[in-house]
Amino acid sequence: MSRCVMSRIVAALIFVIVTSSVALADGLPIPSYWLNQRGSEMKLFSSDAQGNFGGVFINHAAGFACQNTPYDLGGHIWGDRVKFVVVWKNFAADCHSKTIWRGWLIGNTLHTRWVLISDNPDGTITKLHGFDVFQLQP
Ligand code: BTN
Repeated sequence: MSRCVMSRIVAALIFVIVTSSVALADGLPIPSYWLNQRGSEMKLFSSDAQGNFGGVFINHAAGFACQNTPYDLGGHIWGDRVKFVVVWKNFAADCHSKTIWRGWLIGNTLHTRWVLISDNPDGTITKLHGFDVFQLQP
């Protein structure tokens, strides 16, 4: 086999690897599907070279509003540290609130703390804090 043919095969292999369907934003597989301990779903679709990623969050957590429809999610990963945000306004409902999750990616698990910031009708703001653990789904 000539050197020219060999180098074309190598180039084609590199192209296939670089454009294969599962990319990684740091250690975060894109696309990927995650569930947390409250039954909520997170679907990640997009990422860039700067560590930004995007997707949707479907809230199924008991005791919260804005359930069962997708809300846009935007986040950032640097090393094993992760931050993502959902503003709870979509085609179906506006809960006048947003959640910020911050945490660590350890293997296939995202360990997070969150703050839910709600704008009340009387002009005040309420902050609620909690923990979520997300598991990567096969
Ligand atoms: C709201 O009730 O104002 C909007 C929905 C908030 C859902 C929260 S976000 C943190 C926690 N984890 C979930 O999966 N759902 C709740």
